[in-house]
Amino acid sequence: MAPVPQKQQLEGEETIPEKDSSSSNSHEVLMKSKVTVVGSGNWGSVAAKLIASNTIKLSSFHDEVRMWVFEETLPTGEKLTEVINRTNENVKYLPGIKLGKNVVADPDLEHAVKDASMLVFVTPHQFMEGICRRLVGKIKGDVQAISLIKGMEVKMEGPCMISTLISEKLGINCCVLMGANIANEIAVEKFSEATVGYREDKEVAERWVRLFSTPYFLVSAVQDVEGVELCGTLKNVVAIGAGLVDGLEMGNNTKAAIMRIGLREMRAFSKLMFSSVRDSTFFESCGVADLITTCLGGRNRKVAEAFAKNGGKRCFDELEAELLQGQKLQGVSTAKEVYEVLSHRGWLELFPLFTTVHEICIGRLPPSAIVEYSEHTPKFSLVEGSAQYY
Ligand SMILES: NC(=O)c1ccc[n+]([C@@H]2O[C@H](COP(=O)([O-])OP(=O)(O)OC[C@H]3O[C@@H](n4cnc5c(N)ncnc54)[C@H](O)[C@@H]3O)[C@@H](O)[C@H]2O)c1
Repeated sequence: MAPVPQKQQLEGEETIPEKDSSSSNSHEVLMKSKVTVVGSGNWGSVAAKLIASNTIKLSSFHDEVRMWVFEETLPTGEKLTEVINRTNENVKYLPGIKLGKNVVADPDLEHAVKDASMLVFVTPHQFMEGICRRLVGKIKGDVQAISLIKGMEVKMEGPCMISTLISEKLGINCCVLMGANIANEIAVEKFSEATVGYREDKEVAERWVRLFSTPYFLVSAVQDVEGVELCGTLKNVVAIGAGLVDGLEMGNNTKAAIMRIGLREMRAFSKLMFSSVRDSTFFESCGVADLITTCLGGRNRKVAEAFAKNGGKRCFDELEAELLQGQKLQGVSTAKEVYEVLSHRGWLELFPLFTTVHEICIGRLPPSAIVEYSEHTPKFSLVEGSAQYY
C-alpha cells in the first residue's frame, strides 16, 4: 500500500482527531461519514485513492470507501470488480497504482450507495442522467454529494450543470470539485491543487476539503458552484482548440493566444449564464490552472492534435476509440452542447472560438479555421452589456 500521507491542517479548520480505535464509541460510529465513489475510470480511481488515504486516518469517516464500478469483462475473461478487489488495482483505467486496501469495488450501484452519507460522482457526464434515474429513492435522505464531472446537459431553457442535475433529480445538496488535475499525475502523488465550489453550507464544503486534501493535493473552497463547474467544463472546448494548433504545428504563441481567447469566452459565457459567477474563481485552480494543464497535456488536446494531423479526415469518435482505450473525450460533446445553447440564444457571433471549435469538430470548417479570427471579433451588440466581459 502507498505510504499514508500526514494529516494536513487547513487554515480556519477545526482539528480532526487522528484515528484511534481505543477511543471509538457507539455515538462516534453513528456520526461517522460513509463515502461511496460513483464511478471508477481514470479520475474516479484516483479520487478513490485520495479519499481512502484520508478515511483511514480521520476519525470522522468510516475506513471503507465503496467504489461503484461499471462492470466490464476483461480480455482475460475476469470481471473488472473481481480483479480490483483481488489486486487492489484498477488494471484497466489506472494500472500500476494501488488504490488502498480500504477501497472496495462494487458492481451493484444501488448496493454501493445504500449506506453512504457522502457521495462522490465521477463518471463521464453522458451517463449521469441514467445513473440519477436509477438512484431515485435509493439513497439516504441526509446524504451530501460532490461532482467531479466535467460537462453539462443541454435543455431548451439553457445549460443544466451536472451538480444541478444531481441536486434536482435526487433532492440533495451537491458541491463540485474541479482543478488542474490530470489524474495520472495525481496518481503518482505529484503536487497539484483543486477547488471545491459550494453553494451555502461552508461546513459541508470544509468536510469535502478534509476528505480530499493530502500534502500533494491542496484543496480550497470557494462559494461559487456554477463558476467552478463551468470553468471545469468549458476548458475542454478550449483544449480542443489547443490540440488543433499543436496538430497544425503552429507553435507556442498561437497556442497561448487560443488559451487567452478561450479563457475570455469561458468567463463571458459563465457570467452571462449565471450573474453570480465571480471573477476571482477564474484565478483558482479550477480556472486558469486547469485551462493551462488541459491545453498542455490532457486527452482532449491529444485527440484534437491527431484530428488536425489527419487533416480532419478521421472523425473524433474513431480517434477517441483508438487513442484513449475506453476513456471518454468530453470536449467534443461539450463544444456541441455549448453551440446548442449559443445557437438557441442567438449568441453564436459573441463566441467565435467556441463556435469555430464545434464547426471544426463536425467537419463544417477545416482545422486551420481555428486561427481565422480577424473577421470573427465578438459581436457585442447581440447582448447588452456583454462587452464588459471581454
Ligand atoms: N481523467 C482525468 O484526468 C480527469 C481529471 C479531472 C476530471 N475528469 C472528469 O472525471 C469524469 C470521469 O472521468 P474518468 O477519467 O474517471 O473516466 P474515464 O474516461 O477514464 O473512463 C470511462 C468510465 O466510464 C465508465 N462507463 C462506460 N460506459 C458506461 C456506462 N454506460 N455507464 C456508466 N459508466 C460507464 C467506464 O467503466 C469507465 O469507468 C469526467 O467527467 C472527466 O471529465 C477526468
